[in-house]
Amino acid sequence: MKYLTTTLALLAPVHAGLRFPCSTLTFQRLDPVVEPGSSPSSHVHHIVGGNAFNSSMTGDVATRASCTTCQMADDFSNYWTATLYFKHPSNGSYHRVPVLPVQPLLGGSQGAVGGLTVYYTQFDLNKDNLKSQPPIKTFPPGFRMTVGSPTASSKPHVGLRYQCLTGQSRGAEMSDFPTKPCTGGIFATQHFPACWDGVNLDSPDHQSHMFNTIRSDGFTNAPACPSTHPIRTPQVTYETVWDTSKFNSLWPSGTPNPFVWSFEGTSGYGTHADYMFGWKGDALQKAMDKSECFYDGCGSITKQAMSKASQCTVKDFVGEVTDGWLGKLPGMAM
Ligand SMILES: *[C@@H]1O[C@H](CO)[C@@H](O)[C@H](O)[C@H]1NC(C)=O
Ligand SMILES: *[C@@H]1O[C@H](CO)[C@@H](O)[C@H](O)[C@H]1NC(C)=O
Repeated sequence: MKYLTTTLALLAPVHAGLRFPCSTLTFQRLDPVVEPGSSPSSHVHHIVGGNAFNSSMTGDVATRASCTTCQMADDFSNYWTATLYFKHPSNGSYHRVPVLPVQPLLGGSQGAVGGLTVYYTQFDLNKDNLKSQPPIKTFPPGFRMTVGSPTASSKPHVGLRYQCLTGQSRGAEMSDFPTKPCTGGIFATQHFPACWDGVNLDSPDHQSHMFNTIRSDGFTNAPACPSTHPIRTPQVTYETVWDTSKFNSLWPSGTPNPFVWSFEGTSGYGTHADYMFGWKGDALQKAMDKSECFYDGCGSITKQAMSKASQCTVKDFVGEVTDGWLGKLPGMAM
């Protein structure tokens, strides 16, 4: 009897999870969520997604974009984070850390260039936890949010983590930067909150229209949304591999972590991420309404080859050098 119950439980739940690669769209000092209209914004971002990206973005992004660097061809959203730089321990120069597509990734990341991996999950990655959950409602056009803060310097934030990649291992999750060189790079994860107030497309701090009910880490079961934020949205997550390997020989053993975020963030706690919704029509909602689709197009989303996605570009609005050896970080005083 127990066996039968378990079998039924596995068959019954509605469960959808999207996971897909997006190539790098651009590295620029722009931030249409936190500093709309500022060109340049304060610090350099690594940006992926649709080509409607600009210093200021309002309304239905999907109607203005004509291509996306993401595998899901109906997804013209933009996803961005701060950019990681190496600060040379002896001469103080900075060098941008390259990004690599997350490996291994099911569903064909061949042809991806840099970028990050995006997840939209219903609740978590455990099918057994999905009984009696409310339906997922996806974001409306114009919706935006951020998670984390560049000024955070000590308090570990749920869902913002680092891992030190070595060989085949991702290693333990940490809330601050690794303290020794990682041969495979630094893996950064950013989980967004998944409860929405159902009204506001944004809020003054870009966070209070959302609420996080996840108390432990990662892709864990999300407790019910509170009455102030009653709408369960997809859980959005980014994963980025910062390929620190070529700087490891310049990191003398026993010295502090030499990697900094682009706002001169020497503390790993300053990790943050920005999201600008831009799915076409109801493409995302249809996928989230599906059951038992996982890491694919959920039966309704059109996918494109990453070699094609990687050709999508935006112009260099700011026109400044962000790569190579730099005497100071772009936008920073010294
Ligand atoms: C970007 O935004 C600026 C200011 O709103 C606008 O003038 C410009 O046409 C936009 N560029 C693109 C390529 O959308
Ligand atoms: C710092 O060192 C790197 C290589 O190790 C070099 O390319 C760069 O020019 C140096 N910067 C200065 C200011 O000397």
